[in-house]
Amino acid sequence: MPTGGFPATLFGMSQPKILIVDDNRVNVDLLKAQLKSFPYTIDTAYDGEEALAKIHQIMPDLVLLDLMMPKISGYEVCRAIKQDKETQFIPVIIITALSELDDKIKAIELGADDFLVKPFNKLELVTRIKSLLNLKALHDDVDRSENILFSLAKALEAKDVYTRGHSDRVAHYSVQVAKALGLDEKEVEILRKGALLHDIGKIGVKEDVLLKEGKLTPEEMAHIKLHPSIGYEICKPLKSIAPCLCCIRSHHERVDGEGYPDNLPGKDIPLSAKIIAVVDSYDAMVTDRPYRKKMPKEDALKIFEKEKKNGQWDVTVVEAFLMMIRKQNETK
Ligand SMILES: [Fe+2]
Ligand SMILES: [Fe+2]
Repeated sequence: MPTGGFPATLFGMSQPKILIVDDNRVNVDLLKAQLKSFPYTIDTAYDGEEALAKIHQIMPDLVLLDLMMPKISGYEVCRAIKQDKETQFIPVIIITALSELDDKIKAIELGADDFLVKPFNKLELVTRIKSLLNLKALHDDVDRSENILFSLAKALEAKDVYTRGHSDRVAHYSVQVAKALGLDEKEVEILRKGALLHDIGKIGVKEDVLLKEGKLTPEEMAHIKLHPSIGYEICKPLKSIAPCLCCIRSHHERVDGEGYPDNLPGKDIPLSAKIIAVVDSYDAMVTDRPYRKKMPKEDALKIFEKEKKNGQWDVTVVEAFLMMIRKQNETK
């Protein structure tokens, strides 16, 4: 089908890219021959170093990887692929002459997605490639949908000089606080995404209310307070965002139960939402808003010190946040 001069990728028509990595050229040629009749774009690398360079250069959809290679072994290549956020979802099929169980276990522990022992038959090879490529395509779809939401949140902020960069800052500091509180890598990542999306519901708030200079009427205030539940409804259909929904819905809840939209008591507010609540409030205090000028950072920190016992925010979170900001100021 003609694409009118646009790159085929725009139409989802590009062929999956497979990278074959093996120091033995005969094996590489054999694999290439077996995959010749399938709609794949094949690239090759003949040692671990070349493989890692090519992976970042072409971002393959799947890697067929030999284990025993000079310089960098297949184990190391596999580990590097799976430890890098950019490449961790690229499926890796280990191809080796080894039949020892220990080697298989080691490769699987490093994150390899499948294992083929030479000599293998063509049908087995292609079946495994197909199923892993299907999984990768599903993952790419989810990734694209998430990126649309992040772009939407960014576009919304960019329209308003007062909030430009707000979500990025909230995400950055929330991650620091979460790490200081000992959250694991997965929880930190959920929090980061949730923080980036926390105000996405403002897309449903009238612009004249959002940008109004001066005091808001009670009706306008009630309208603005809808943004956590609007954001929740926008993001709810996307399953991969499900763990982040509580950050979006509950970032204006208060530990004393006076927050919105659900008036949750402190014990029912998820920790991630409590972290965003603190960082979000701080960022709002130290940046200009249409209805007031920013306050000096020191004054904002004093408010947190004073409020620590009054119950708006979680004490442990406030303490971790204050410690982080103080450390940062010391190193400046
Ligand atoms: Fe908000
Ligand atoms: Fe916010």
